[in-house]
Amino acid sequence: MAAAGARLPLALLLPLFVTFFASPASATDTITANSSLSDGQTLVSAGGVFQLGFFTPASSTARFLGIWYMGLAPQTVVWVANREAPITGTTASLAINATGSLVLADPSGRVFWSSPQSNMSSTGSPVGAQLLDSGNFVLQGGGGAVLWQSFDYPSDTLLPGMKLGWDLTTGLDRHLTTWRSTGDPSPGDYTFGFDLRGVPEGFIRRDGTVPVYRNGPWNGLQFSGEPEMEPNNSNFQFEFVDNASDVYYTFLVDGGGGSGNGGVVSRFVLNQSSVQRYVWPPGGQGWSLYWSLPRDQCDNYAHCGAFGACDTSGGSAACACVHGFTPASPRDWELRDSSAGCRRLTRLNCTGDGFLPLRGVKLPDTTNATEDATITVDQCRQRCLANCSCLAYAASSIKGGDSGCIIWSSPLIDIRHFPSGGQDLFVRLAASDLPSDGDGSRKKNVVVAVVVSLSAVLLVGVGGFFLWKKLFRNKAGRFQSAQRFSSFDSSVPLTPVQLQDRSKEDEAGQSSDLNVTLFDMDAIALSTDNFAAWNKLGEGGFGAVYKGQLEGGQAVAVKRLSKYSTQGLGEFKNEVMLIAKLQHVNLVRLLGCCVHGEERMLVYEYMENKSLDNFIFDKNRSAQLHWSKRFDIILGIARGLLYLHQDSRYKVIHRDLKAGNILLDKDMNPKISDFGVARIFGDDTDSHTRKVVGTYGYMSPEYAMDGVFSVKSDVFSFGVLVLEIVSGRKNRGMYSSGEQTSLLSQAWRLWREGNALALLDEAVVRAGTHRSSEVLRCVQVALLCVQERPDDRPHMAAVFLALGNPSAVLPQPRHPGYCTDRGSASTDGEWSSTCTVNDVTVTIVEGR
Ligand SMILES: *[C@@H]1O[C@H](CO)[C@@H](O)[C@H](O)[C@H]1NC(C)=O
Ligand SMILES: *[C@@H]1O[C@H](CO)[C@@H](O)[C@H](O)[C@H]1NC(C)=O
Ligand SMILES: *[C@@H]1O[C@H](CO)[C@@H](O)[C@H](O)[C@H]1NC(C)=O
Ligand SMILES: *[C@@H]1O[C@H](CO)[C@@H](O)[C@H](O)[C@H]1NC(C)=O
Ligand SMILES: *[C@@H]1O[C@H](CO)[C@@H](O)[C@H](O)[C@H]1NC(C)=O
Ligand SMILES: *[C@@H]1O[C@H](CO)[C@@H](O)[C@H](O)[C@H]1NC(C)=O
Ligand SMILES: *[C@@H]1O[C@H](CO)[C@@H](O)[C@H](O)[C@H]1NC(C)=O
Ligand SMILES: *[C@@H]1O[C@H](CO)[C@@H](O)[C@H](O)[C@H]1NC(C)=O
Ligand SMILES: *[C@@H]1O[C@H](CO)[C@@H](O)[C@H](O)[C@H]1NC(C)=O
Repeated sequence: MAAAGARLPLALLLPLFVTFFASPASATDTITANSSLSDGQTLVSAGGVFQLGFFTPASSTARFLGIWYMGLAPQTVVWVANREAPITGTTASLAINATGSLVLADPSGRVFWSSPQSNMSSTGSPVGAQLLDSGNFVLQGGGGAVLWQSFDYPSDTLLPGMKLGWDLTTGLDRHLTTWRSTGDPSPGDYTFGFDLRGVPEGFIRRDGTVPVYRNGPWNGLQFSGEPEMEPNNSNFQFEFVDNASDVYYTFLVDGGGGSGNGGVVSRFVLNQSSVQRYVWPPGGQGWSLYWSLPRDQCDNYAHCGAFGACDTSGGSAACACVHGFTPASPRDWELRDSSAGCRRLTRLNCTGDGFLPLRGVKLPDTTNATEDATITVDQCRQRCLANCSCLAYAASSIKGGDSGCIIWSSPLIDIRHFPSGGQDLFVRLAASDLPSDGDGSRKKNVVVAVVVSLSAVLLVGVGGFFLWKKLFRNKAGRFQSAQRFSSFDSSVPLTPVQLQDRSKEDEAGQSSDLNVTLFDMDAIALSTDNFAAWNKLGEGGFGAVYKGQLEGGQAVAVKRLSKYSTQGLGEFKNEVMLIAKLQHVNLVRLLGCCVHGEERMLVYEYMENKSLDNFIFDKNRSAQLHWSKRFDIILGIARGLLYLHQDSRYKVIHRDLKAGNILLDKDMNPKISDFGVARIFGDDTDSHTRKVVGTYGYMSPEYAMDGVFSVKSDVFSFGVLVLEIVSGRKNRGMYSSGEQTSLLSQAWRLWREGNALALLDEAVVRAGTHRSSEVLRCVQVALLCVQERPDDRPHMAAVFLALGNPSAVLPQPRHPGYCTDRGSASTDGEWSSTCTVNDVTVTIVEGR
């Protein structure tokens, strides 16, 4: 909930909303004991920020009493009184009754909502109920006493100044509850609030009980599950209070009461199963999503079960048992169902045990843990060692160095690794299970071993990657994201430095003075509003992409590479230079790069029409893509990929080809992006084993499972892409959830039935301009590309020829490399057992 996010641009501080909030002189912000508010009338807070009155949600006819931002359209409701009792008609009104309750009732006396009876013995009868500029609606007694306030009874929205959490003296639990749907404010299935058992943590729960997401215990600086939370800054301050009388989180923006006062408008909202932070950007036309939690599968509560740890650095969520543990149910684990978690290899012996450090993690569920903030971490270790039921310990605070103590004595649940940040957790292991050279020694960083015994190759592919990742994680990286942009105010002019290409030749063999611009970090930050959420174009396997505008007005796309790269500066620049040399009409042009500390960025030309997935998977926009355009796009992608594989001086395997990586220029010409980011390969024969970075759904089986990739893995992804363009459907990939079949198996089935045209996108069929022969050829080529055995798949040269040549005679495809119909009835014996590679059956769950 509380990741403060990157600093907001200074522009946000400008008095942006002043004009919106010129309130009519007649409006009042108070109802007194003798007045009432009827439907049609509203209260307006003194500064004109919020409005209270009756409203009808979209797609509903009922009336509700609520509070919304004044002047922001569309109407954004932040609080609702009668959530559970919709009003029909417009005769209801709100008044304060004789015993000091706010009562929403109609003339017949039917009560739709009321506040609890006030204890008036100390404060006297209420003098009125006032709507404040903070959005709080307060029932006031004599002498300013607060008898009741809407901030104590949140709906789905947390506003600046509101408290999320507990008043322990009264037992009041302030938590968010979703609306059932956009048109129905009645309480939905999800809640977000703090659980006080053990060490307090925020939970999103379904049906009031089932945990969906957990933000982790407070560590003095941030919640353990949100290492990206930044320290207080001038735009955003937050506070977590945990003492004998209160446990709550609260935030303020712009150093003031939130909205109004010419400040930033910002709100948190529980939107189904996600907590989201929205801001209204400067001069914006609507809300921008700033962040949303849970962020990925690893955030799903207990995704990897007990003693399992989740990691997304491979591009998708992967579970591994903590070192010293093995999957409790190996069979399910192989099928990527890790909910059963892991069991200990060697029983604890109590006296001779040691500790294994897990670095950079989200601390496990603390519901059953105990905290002692008064002791040191060393004392914590001793305390754990001395108690046979202690299974792990960690510092309870990392503010100004590690201190305090959290002790776990029940299974460790919901651990995840973070690419940067995160905390240290010390897990108790039998001496024999500790890594040979370390009993928690701080030098030792290798902590997780992968225990999935699919095959030796898989172990090399995935396990090697974990080791690699661990080896290069360093503790110093912890708060870098917080400090990185601290010098944002000093605006440094754009002073590009040219990197000289030392080689004498370019692609065409002519002498060249190819220059790659080295952009200044501050210029990039400025051009993207400091990587503001509203400038985010997308998120790829290698990092997020932002739209930016350079000083001259040129639009660019900035790819902020994920922090997993271990490359040195020289190596990075060399690769950038190589990528910049890859120039083709069907490739996005690289303009330059930016290096700042550990941060690496690539700057590309900006593509007006964004990415292909915005078109083919969108009901409305897909109609714009007639068959001939789709066919052109397929040919263009094939041409670009052929160039990468074969025609460029360097053989480049893309490794993450997908609809989101095909960009469209203003004339809808396709351009492949993100090429060469994975690595530039000089040799062209062998396949390579590296960490898996692609996108599930597009990955060939040998790559997804064994980490083996070659040009043929790209060919596989191309085949999937062609089927998606033809059908307008996303390949949900290898997710086997009962009847749902993947695009590949559907295409294969229709092809075998001689009915491949049925695959064609409705929108194309409706236009009626397609050529059936071209469609069929595309499907056949695509199926050839997705065959299971890499050797069976054609090279891109053959693919390109086959697509462009109507008279080409094509071989019959064999079954595709993935089936999701495992277990479903099949008349074809060969087909029903095709989900195997290396004699191991694997189902991979798609990463969203
Ligand atoms: C409300 O009405 C009562 C009786 O008419 C009167 O005594 C009281 O002063 C009024 N209160 C306010 C706040 O106007
Ligand atoms: C005022 O409203 C509360 C809540 O509905 C109710 O319990 C109470 O009896 C009401 N008082 C009077 C005098 O009607
Ligand atoms: C009302 O307030 C008085 C004085 O603060 C207190 O003595 C009394 O117990 C309270 N009554 C209730 C029902 O809370
Ligand atoms: C942020 O500032 C507020 C107000 O100055 C303070 O109460 C709070 O503790 C600070 N929060 C953090 C995390 O330092
Ligand atoms: C707990 O913290 C809150 C906010 O800082 C403060 O108002 C309250 O008095 C504190 N309670 C105790 C018992 O220290
Ligand atoms: C909920 O989230 C979706 C997708 O992020 C967004 O379109 C929608 O507007 C959100 N609803 C609210 C009430 O913020
Ligand atoms: C526990 O381990 C220690 C050291 O390895 C050993 O000396 C001791 O005998 C073991 N105790 C049991 C009960 O196995
Ligand atoms: C906490 O302990 C209870 C009772 O032993 C157990 O049912 C529950 O699963 C535990 N929860 C966690 C998160 O360890
Ligand atoms: C050991 O830890 C358990 C669980 O936290 C606790 O109940 C028990 O009192 C502890 N024993 C000692 C001797 O501290």
